[in-house]
Formats: sequence, structure tokens, C-alpha cells
Amino acid sequence: MTASISAARVATLAGSFDRSPAYVGLADALVLLIGDGRIGLGTRLPSERELTDALGVSRTTVTRAYAALRDAGYAEARRGAGTFTRVPGGRARAHDRALLPRAGDETAIDLNCAAASAPPGLAGAYAEAAADLPAYLGGHGYFPAGLPELQHAIAATYDARGLPTHPDQVMVTAGALSAASIVAAAFTSPGDRVLVESPVYPNATQALRHSGARITGSPVDPDGWDLDAAAAALRQTAPMLAYLIPDFQNPTGHLMTDAQREEYAAHLRRTRTVAVVDEAHQALALEGQEMPAPFAAYSPEAITIGSASKSFWGGLRLGWIRCPERRMDRLTQARVGMDLGAPVMEQLVLARLLADSAPILEEHRARLREQRDRLAGAIRERLPEWAFRLPAGGLALWCELPGPLGTAVAAEAERLGVIVAPGPVFAAEGGLDHFVRIPWTRPADELEEAVARLATAWAAVRERRGDDARASARVMVA
Ligand SMILES: Cc1ncc(COP(=O)(O)O)c(C=O)c1O
Repeated sequence: MTASISAARVATLAGSFDRSPAYVGLADALVLLIGDGRIGLGTRLPSERELTDALGVSRTTVTRAYAALRDAGYAEARRGAGTFTRVPGGRARAHDRALLPRAGDETAIDLNCAAASAPPGLAGAYAEAAADLPAYLGGHGYFPAGLPELQHAIAATYDARGLPTHPDQVMVTAGALSAASIVAAAFTSPGDRVLVESPVYPNATQALRHSGARITGSPVDPDGWDLDAAAAALRQTAPMLAYLIPDFQNPTGHLMTDAQREEYAAHLRRTRTVAVVDEAHQALALEGQEMPAPFAAYSPEAITIGSASKSFWGGLRLGWIRCPERRMDRLTQARVGMDLGAPVMEQLVLARLLADSAPILEEHRARLREQRDRLAGAIRERLPEWAFRLPAGGLALWCELPGPLGTAVAAEAERLGVIVAPGPVFAAEGGLDHFVRIPWTRPADELEEAVARLATAWAAVRERRGDDARASARVMVA
């Protein structure tokens, strides 16, 4: 079936495009909508006449805008069928081969990465930031602590959350994962114990292992954190660090309550374990709810990690570390062994985004909420044996299967063109094959198609339950 989009919907999405001249503004607006996926690839655009009526512009404006779209490679005319969206270089251009082995396959649906496409407003922030750049060109361009204005902007986000923060307590990094590597290099030595949640975001565990740390898992159940087990693990291993994801934990989606934060912080104090708090999903509360206080409000020694990837866009490749100022020297020493700072241009973009983040974040969350609900609805309907708790934020459903078949389902789904990560990818110490993580980061129609394919995969796996469950060697997720 060919997807199409109505003229009224295009008019709503394109909104108040720049009218000087109107055809350029319309073409630019459509390029962004197609580029970030709000208008899907291969979608038939409305006829010129329909769009002319819906937008209340001249026919020439639409004709010239469509011509500009075609010239730029964002649309193609098919004789007798209409104008269809595309992107230059094809869909594969937006994917990385390492994260999506079937990147060349235009029909594969990537649910391996829990990362959404860019929200509207991102390209505009880049354009504005380019105007800020000349002021920096006279210097060498290295900022191992971060661009001062971005350190300020990040510190202000903590002030606003009730955690007073001086800009010198902030180091800007090339993403939260890089931040975790820097923290691990700075504060662990080979053989040191580090506590991690299980299931856990696996790349962070790998970063910790690279520094030679010995990992101990502490369970996060389908109901949430097992604080008694965490206290016992802390007592038994007295780890140097504890890596925690209290905000819409990846992959379970749980949100740690204030009371749990307070209790966890008290357990950590007893063993003098420093919390490394990964807040990558902190800005993704999808119910308009107030968030608990930052973990560091209960644990002043905590080292907090933040990310621009989930609230804005992974392609910014920006994150940060917030910690007590006296720890900064050690972090800086560790950091310069890896890189000398994040790109200036992206830092300028993020500074601009943070200066007025509410409208972008609201729209981003609204889109994610709709996608979450459509994904959850499709799974309830087509995969009623899969159990999950609907997270109040974040990016993924953590689905529990009625048997240890996660790896088998993922392998079968991959054959059918859906890439998902099975539970063992997230296990700190093995197991968890009862689970599959399904992010709601693709457009809703694509998610529903993915669930249809997963249902087919599930039926096939159930039929031959137990035999030839081929394990996938791939563990790279985001
Ligand atoms: C908990 C968590 N931390 C860190 C990251 C990676 O963040 P970044 O893109 O900023 O490196 C992710 C991405 O999925 C994540 O879920």
C-alpha cells in the first residue's frame, strides 16, 4: 500500500513557513519534514491543486516548491502517480552500518537504537549557531572543559531543577557515553568494583569494563529497583562507583521515586560508594508530570552524566558531566587522554537550544507520547502474551515474554526486517532472555508495521519453541 499525506496535514505540519519568497519557505519546510521523518519516505504528497487550496498560496508557489524539492533530491515525480518523498542518498544514509547491520535494506525497521529523529527546530538552531561561530574562530578551538556559555546553560538547567550548580562544575563531553568513559578512567583502577543495574544500558558497562573495573549487577525488576538487593551488593563488594539510571531507566523505563533516591543514597554513603548518575532520559517525562529531585540532591558526592541525544538529537554528539568542583582536575586529566573537547559548532547549537528549550521539548515529548501509545496499543492487540509496564517517560518498552525466547524472537524478527535488541544484550551478568526491548522512536505507522512483523516472528518462534534459537552476535545498541 502506498502511503499518502493529506493537504490539510501538510498545511498543519508546514505551519507558518517563511514567505520571502513563499516557494523557498515551503520547500525548506518540506525538506525538514521529510528529513526528520514527520513525512515518511515514499509518501505521496498532495497534488499541487490540493496543496494550493489548503495553504491559501498561489499555484505557482506550490509548483516551484515541488520543483525545488525534486531538484534537491527530496521528492521524485512518478508519471501518472504523483510526487513522492525521498531523501538524497536513500534511507540508508541516515543509518550507521555498525548499529544496523541491514542498513542497505530500505525496508528494515530499526528498533535497535532507542534514539529518535531530530525534533523540529534543530536545523534552525544550527543555522542560528553558525552566526555565533565567527567570534570563536580567532582562538584555537579546543575547550576541554566546554564552551563557557554552554557550561553556563547546562549549569542553569540544574539550578532550575533545584540543584545549585556553578558552571565550573560542568564538563562538556562528546555524549553521555564518552562522559561515562571519562568518569571510569578518572575514578577506577583495574580490579576496582563497580555496581551497575541489571538490566542496564550495555555500552556504559562496556566503558566501565574498559577501565578494568569488575562489574557487579544489582537487579532492576519488572516492578523497579530492588533496594534490599542493592544494599546487600554494596555491603558485600564495597564498590568504588555505582552506575545508576534513575530517570526512565534504560531498558526498563522505571523512574526512581524521591524516597527510593533518598534510601539508595543512604546505602551508598555507608560504603563510601560514589554514584555515577546517568540522566540521559531525564527530559523525557511524557505525562507532563513533575520529576523527582536529581539524585545528586540526595547524594552531593554524586557524579552526574547528562546527554543532548535523547532530548534533542544523537547527531549533536554532546553530553556532559556535573560533579563537585574538586573532582574536575582528575576528570580533565582523564579527558585529555581521550580527546581535547567537543566540537565548537555543536556546542553553540546546544547553547541555543537550551536557552529556549521548552517549545522544542514539548513538541518532541508530544510526538514520543503518541508513538509510545501507538506502540503499546499494537503490542496489546497483536502480542497479548507479551507483558510490559507502560513507562511514564523515556523511549522504550521492556517486554516480558512467556519464555526465554528473546534472542530467538530477535533473530527471527531480523529475518523479517525488524531489528530489536533481546534481553541478554542488557544483562550485566548473563540471563534475561525472557525480555525484548522495543523503543517507540520511529513514526507510529512504522512501529505498527514492526509489531505486525514481530507478531509473525513470535508465532514462528512459538511453533518451534526451544530448537535452533540462533543467538545474535550483535550487541551494539544505543
Ligand atoms: C542511559 C543512557 N546513557 C547514555 C546513552 C548514550 O548517550 P550519548 O548519545 O549522549 O552518548 C544512552 C543512549 O541510549 C542511554 O540510554
